[in-house]
Amino acid sequence: MTAGANPDAVAELERSWDLERTWINRRSIRAFRPEPIERAILERLFAAAQRAPSWCNVQPWRVIVTEPPVTGVLAGELQAAAKTSLPHAEVPFPLDYPSPYKEARIACGAALYRAMGVARDDKAGRYDAWLRNYALFDAPHVAIVACDRRLGPYAYVDVGVWLGYVLTAAAALGIETCPMASVAAYPKTLRARLPIAETDVVLFGLVLGHADEEAPANQCRTTRAPVAGNVTFASSV
Ligand SMILES: Cc1cc2nc3c(=O)[nH]c(=O)nc-3n(C[C@H](O)[C@H](O)[C@H](O)COP(=O)(O)O)c2cc1C
Repeated sequence: MTAGANPDAVAELERSWDLERTWINRRSIRAFRPEPIERAILERLFAAAQRAPSWCNVQPWRVIVTEPPVTGVLAGELQAAAKTSLPHAEVPFPLDYPSPYKEARIACGAALYRAMGVARDDKAGRYDAWLRNYALFDAPHVAIVACDRRLGPYAYVDVGVWLGYVLTAAAALGIETCPMASVAAYPKTLRARLPIAETDVVLFGLVLGHADEEAPANQCRTTRAPVAGNVTFASSV
């Protein structure tokens, strides 16, 4: 401890470093072991994430969590849809990523393909890697996350905040995850299997389980831009 430092402030800082360690250790997992997570632990996780703030406290996330055997059945249906039909997300995916997002996106894909041993010009390998999304990476659970379409884009911000809470709480509980926009590309398949309200728009999936630590896909690591790339302080008038 620094001499003369306020002990409360130091304790607070140490708590926040624990939080940062959780964030540093979290990463997206793309190959899971089959064992499901106990219902009581899943309930604990989602109960903790209910603390997420939202504008006017509307708490607009609407979440359906699958358990075996539903997860496997849904994965089969999603793979069939991905092989035979065009993606059609309810919230349109970006068509183009202008710089610097384009470079970040390419680096993200390259890190995953490198980990998986898929060469740049290996079209079949890339297709198979893409299809793994629809196998839900063999996870025992997928949460399908939707939001009332009548609330508009600020409610999506609220759901993003909630996602951050879920990812953090899961990492703290030793549960591995991967958020998955890809799953939202086949909403008809999701709606045919799960009770998603007509008034809700499907935003993304979130697979949960325990990692197959040896799997090549799970060796993928991503980097982050220095903070100055994202945060600017305005201090002069
Ligand atoms: C909203 C959202 C959607 C995502 N969709 C997918 C997806 O469909 N498939 C996938 O493999 N990863 C997906 N990811 C994971 C990102 O690729 C990953 O978070 C990013 O590359 C940073 O890596 P990290 O999570 O390992 O730190 C998604 C992440 C977010 C937040």
